[in-house]
Amino acid sequence: MELKPTPFRDEFLRADGAVCLNHAGISPIPQRTARTITQLATFMTRQQLFRYAELEETLQKARMTIASLIGCHFAEVAFTRNTSEALSHVALGLDWRAGDEIVTTDQEFPSNLVVWLDIARRKGVTVHQVPSLPDNRVATAALLERVNRRTRVLTVSSVQYATGAGVDLEAIGDALKNTATLFVVDAVQSLGAVSLDVKRMGIDALAAGGHKWLLAPEGCGLFYLSPKALSQVQPRILGWHSVRNAGDYTNITIEPRDGIFRFEAGTHNVIGAAALAESIALLLEAGMETVAQRIRHLTRSFIQELTRRGCVVITPLDHDNHCVAGILVFKHPTVAATALHRHFLANNIEQVSRSGGIRFAPHFYQDQGDVLKVMEVMDRAASMSPVQN
Ligand SMILES: Cc1ncc(COP(=O)(O)O)c(C=O)c1O
Repeated sequence: MELKPTPFRDEFLRADGAVCLNHAGISPIPQRTARTITQLATFMTRQQLFRYAELEETLQKARMTIASLIGCHFAEVAFTRNTSEALSHVALGLDWRAGDEIVTTDQEFPSNLVVWLDIARRKGVTVHQVPSLPDNRVATAALLERVNRRTRVLTVSSVQYATGAGVDLEAIGDALKNTATLFVVDAVQSLGAVSLDVKRMGIDALAAGGHKWLLAPEGCGLFYLSPKALSQVQPRILGWHSVRNAGDYTNITIEPRDGIFRFEAGTHNVIGAAALAESIALLLEAGMETVAQRIRHLTRSFIQELTRRGCVVITPLDHDNHCVAGILVFKHPTVAATALHRHFLANNIEQVSRSGGIRFAPHFYQDQGDVLKVMEVMDRAASMSPVQN
C-alpha cells in the first residue's frame, strides 16, 4: 500500500524542492517552530527585567512536553546543549573507583565513547566494547554477559548512527533493574522516530539532542536520570541554579539541589527549549505510533526499491524485515558510495555516506512521492556512471 501525504507535510515545504534524507544528521525545523522562535525573540526585544516569570513558564511547559514524550515527570527533565553534554554529566558525575567497568558496543558514535575512555584513562576503569555480530546486529546477550559486580555503567545508542542497528532497550533495562549497574542510553538516533518510555524500559540515564529526529534547532537537548541514577551522579558543572536555595544570593551553599535541575548550572537557552518543545508537540500531535509507522513504511518502501535494483542493505532488519527506526544504510551494486553521495547532493537529495554505503534517514512527513523521486535520481546515476570513487 502506498504511503499517502500527511497534512504535516506543509510544515516542511521547501522552496528548493530538496528531499531531506538526513534526519539522522541535521533536520529541517517545522514552520510552527520557526514561528515560536520569532515570537519569543520579539518578546525579548521588549521585555527585559520582568521577563523571568514568563520565561520560567515557557521552560516549565517545555519540560512537560518532553516528559510526555519520554514517559516521566516534568521535574525529571533537564535541558542540555546536546547529547554529548548529557553523557558527560553522567561520566563526570560518578564516583569512579579503580577496577570499575563500563560495558558498551563497538559501534558507538564518538560522543558515547570518548567520555568513557576519558574516565578509563584517568580513573583506572576498564571499558569493554563488546563486538557486534557479523551482520552488524548489536549483541544484546553478549553485552549482558559482560556485566558483573564491578560494572557501573552499561551504555548503548538506542540506534547506531552508522548502521541503523537497534537494541532491545527493554530487555537490557529489565536485566539491570535489580543491579547496581546504571543503564545509560544515547537516544539521539531514535527519539522522535520511534516511541520510548524511560520507566517501562528501565532506563537510568537518557541523553538526546534535538536537531535530528526531534526536528528542533541545534543547541538544545534533553537529559533524564532515574532515582537510582540521581543517587549516584553528582553535578560537576556548577552555578547559581544547581545549588540548594537557588536564587537566594544571600544564603550561599555548595550543596547541590535535589533532582535533575542540579545539572542546569545557570540561565537557560529558553528559545532553544521552547523550539524543542514545539517540534516535539508536533510529533505528539501526529502521534508517535503514527510517526513510527510512517517511517517504517518509508524505509520498507526504500528497501523494496533498492533491493529490486540489486542494492545490498547493510542495516540489520527486524524479524519482519523492517528497519528498527529511521536509519537505512545500503550499498549500490555498481556506483561507489562517494560518487553516489555526490550525485544525490547535486540533485538536491540530502543524505550522507556511512559504513561504506549511503545512509537514508526519512521522516514521517515524507511519502511515496519522495521515495520515487529519490529512486529516479539514483537510476540516472546508475545509467551514467561506471564504478568509481
Ligand atoms: C548516536 C549519536 N550520539 C551522539 C551524537 C552527537 O550528538 P550531539 O551533537 O547532540 O552531542 C550523534 C550525532 O550524529 C549520534 O549519532
